[in-house]
Amino acid sequence: MTRLVVVGGGRMGHALLGGLLRSGWAAPGELGVVEPLASVRSGLVKRYPGVVVSETGLAAESAVLAVKPADARAGCRTVSDSGCRRAISIMAGVKIAQLETWLGRDVAVLRAMPNTPAVLGAGASALAGGTSVTESDFTWAEEVLSSLGVVARLPEYQLDAVTGLSGSGPAYVFLLAEALVDAGVNEGLDREVSRLLAVQTLLGSARLLAETGDSPETLRAAVTSPGGTTAAGLRVLEAHGFRSSVLEAVAAAADRSREISRTE
Ligand SMILES: NC(=O)c1ccc[n+]([C@@H]2O[C@H](COP(=O)([O-])OP(=O)(O)OC[C@H]3O[C@@H](n4cnc5c(N)ncnc54)[C@H](OP(=O)(O)O)[C@@H]3O)[C@@H](O)[C@H]2O)c1
Repeated sequence: MTRLVVVGGGRMGHALLGGLLRSGWAAPGELGVVEPLASVRSGLVKRYPGVVVSETGLAAESAVLAVKPADARAGCRTVSDSGCRRAISIMAGVKIAQLETWLGRDVAVLRAMPNTPAVLGAGASALAGGTSVTESDFTWAEEVLSSLGVVARLPEYQLDAVTGLSGSGPAYVFLLAEALVDAGVNEGLDREVSRLLAVQTLLGSARLLAETGDSPETLRAAVTSPGGTTAAGLRVLEAHGFRSSVLEAVAAAADRSREISRTE
């Protein structure tokens, strides 16, 4: 029997298979993927030799539901038919109570919200458990999701906040990147050079935050000498409401997530 089946061989399905194989969590023959589209299936066969690729479903101990929310019900049917005991859904906006109704009482249901850097194993996921989830189900799900990046365990109601912060967060960072590149060009730099410097500035700053463990305030203070160039730049960002714009952006995305889950 397959150890884990990924239902949906799209972007997230690929990220999971790649991550689980890279991390050594499973050997190829222990993983399966269900994908209705023949062209996608042939790509999966080529990219992950040894992984069981199926059009309709296969028997498995556990599952990850990685189809679009509109295909949730069909995806749940595939999970139920696999006879699995545990399932993680990464579908945005589909609530645990709904999944439990579709999957039945024999399946421990967990719900996760990853983000796009997961495709590089550099994602940030939040994980919530359903009514019958045990500590060992949580540990198992954390192991699976850690192949996509870091994982935080949270109550389900906080997943809307997570959507606003880390789910939508990459788009805010990309907008900042676009603005930095344009700003460099505006100051007379060649666009390629500006892009190189802007991207490395974001990457290097994120690494400093992650690897030193210092607070953002400490790291910011360290590059802000009194009356200096950075202080002049920061004064303009504060005057234009940069911090409150970010607060409001995250709040608006979280509100929208709440609204979407109410209507689905
Ligand atoms: N991408 C992200 O950053 C991100 C972040 C957080 C959460 N999510 C969630 O992750 C889920 C997957 O996203 P994605 O970007 O990977 O989507 P995607 O690329 O569209 O992948 C979904 C795949 O599932 C397949 N599928 C549809 N119905 C199926 C069924 N009944 N059984 C098996 N496979 C089926 C689709 O095939 P067809 O093409 O034939 O329909 C498609 O290949 C979504 O629910 C999304 O909300 C994504």
